[in-house]
Amino acid sequence: MEYKNIIAENLCKHIDMEKETIERLVENPPKPEMGDFAFPCFQLAKSMKKAPNMIAQDLKGLLGNLDGFEKIEAFGPYINFFVAKNDFMKEIIEKVLNEKENYGSTKEGVGKNVIVEYCSANIAKPFHVGHLYTTMIGNSLYKIFNSQGYNAIGINHLGDWGTQFGKLIYAYNHWGDEKALEEEPIKEMLRVYVKFHDEAEKNPVLDDEGRKHFKLLEDGNEEEVKLWTKFKDLSLKEFDKLFNMLNVKFDSFAGESFYQDKMDAVIDEIESKGLLTESNGAKVVMLEELNIPPCIIKKADGATIYATRDLAAMFYRKKTYDFYKNIYVVAKDQSLHFKQVFSTVKKMGYDWADDCIHVPFGLVRFPDKKLSTRKGDVVFLEDLLNEAVVKTEEIINEKNPTLENKKEVAKKVGIGAVVFAYLKNSRERDIIFDWDEMLSFEGETGPYVQYTYARGKSILRKLGEGTGEVDYSKLVSEEEFELVKTLSGFNNSIKQALDKLQPSIVTRFTIDVAKAFNKFYNSINISNSEDEVTKNTRLALVKATLQVIENGLHLIGLETVDEM
Ligand code: ARG
Repeated sequence: MEYKNIIAENLCKHIDMEKETIERLVENPPKPEMGDFAFPCFQLAKSMKKAPNMIAQDLKGLLGNLDGFEKIEAFGPYINFFVAKNDFMKEIIEKVLNEKENYGSTKEGVGKNVIVEYCSANIAKPFHVGHLYTTMIGNSLYKIFNSQGYNAIGINHLGDWGTQFGKLIYAYNHWGDEKALEEEPIKEMLRVYVKFHDEAEKNPVLDDEGRKHFKLLEDGNEEEVKLWTKFKDLSLKEFDKLFNMLNVKFDSFAGESFYQDKMDAVIDEIESKGLLTESNGAKVVMLEELNIPPCIIKKADGATIYATRDLAAMFYRKKTYDFYKNIYVVAKDQSLHFKQVFSTVKKMGYDWADDCIHVPFGLVRFPDKKLSTRKGDVVFLEDLLNEAVVKTEEIINEKNPTLENKKEVAKKVGIGAVVFAYLKNSRERDIIFDWDEMLSFEGETGPYVQYTYARGKSILRKLGEGTGEVDYSKLVSEEEFELVKTLSGFNNSIKQALDKLQPSIVTRFTIDVAKAFNKFYNSINISNSEDEVTKNTRLALVKATLQVIENGLHLIGLETVDEM
């Protein structure tokens, strides 16, 4: 039953307001005694020139009884609607159990391509804790869009081009160790790269050497290309390990080098449209009307830059995918960069530039460690994830020493805990890394939600799956009703997460479900139910809850475990 729709349809017969507007205004009240839906009359007060309390009273009278609701009340400036509980519970629980992994999904976006760019790490450098942020936000948005019928395309715009590769080639040729490169490629590449910077401080001529080797690479010189290809292959192999650990996939790895031969066409077009200006020897597009610095297209030495490759990528993506939205999950310190490239394309006369969206996120901070690649004291993500697994295994050893597949459970729970902590808050916020907090089985954590799931599974193992006769009128407690109400909000949470490009809304939803479930579980003794039918109905509710937790966790990139 579409409750909001019923409310809107009936209200609009009595007031001068569009049905869609009413539907948007309908709220979910914070307390059960305020009903399950509420319509605020403030907005009407202005147009009707009447006190909102009065309007609420009058409308309540005019509405009478509505299909699907057992009570309608005027309460101050609100009209509160109470759903007919039995029908509601039956409808929601059956819907979840029928739709299974598709509960929450819709077909709203069918036929629309949405690009989600995430990860976009730089090859030859360690994959660090900040890259995990973009990777997991993007992975989640990718799944969220797909769940609503869109065709999401996940792109990893690898940082695999630029002068730093000239430096790396020079450095490796001088100080590299082949064996070390094979064994621990990223560490070895980082080592020689750091050495390059140290040496270049003493001897600035090295920077020219770096530029020279990058030029050779750009010109396709065999030796440079061979080395660069090796660096790239080794890096991707290392990255792949992480993607497997995180269960993250991409549809394309077209990174910066992919656009090498696609930049000239864009530069020519910018020039032919009279937008290319000379500034201190560089070629730029002025953006003074937006009050931002110009977008640099070519440096004074004629070399293209990061922004030029992003411009080429925009056109390539538009041509290849004819995207509905082109989303970039990239740290917030690149906001200006994206403003510059998007505005440049807009200035070239392409309105689809407005469909390109930068989705920024905050920093990841360790209270006591720094995260710079130049100096080399960086937290490698792989080490961090392994640490999460080890720590989780210790906790499991304590709590459930006889658990069979401990290693596998520790992996799902430990890595899941980190991912959950990343996606728990609004992405603009910085993350302050805190092991104890994120691994705790209590509080708003991944392990808490996963543990709730495992608890539910154990009930079903012991008492059966509630497949016998059920009767929803047996579910009369406040806790049961509140739990079902929470489950019913899943699609709404997904939609909000999609609109705001905010996976945390889904994360929060899984916490809400776990909390509502634990309240239910703690107040009702399922095995001692009055009769078999009541017990079965409650088990059906448990089963539906687990399905919703699983679906929710899946959307943020976590897996469930049956026991932990
Ligand atoms: N490789 C860059 C970095 O690690 C991020 C790339 C972001 N994506 C883009 N299309 N510019 O800082």
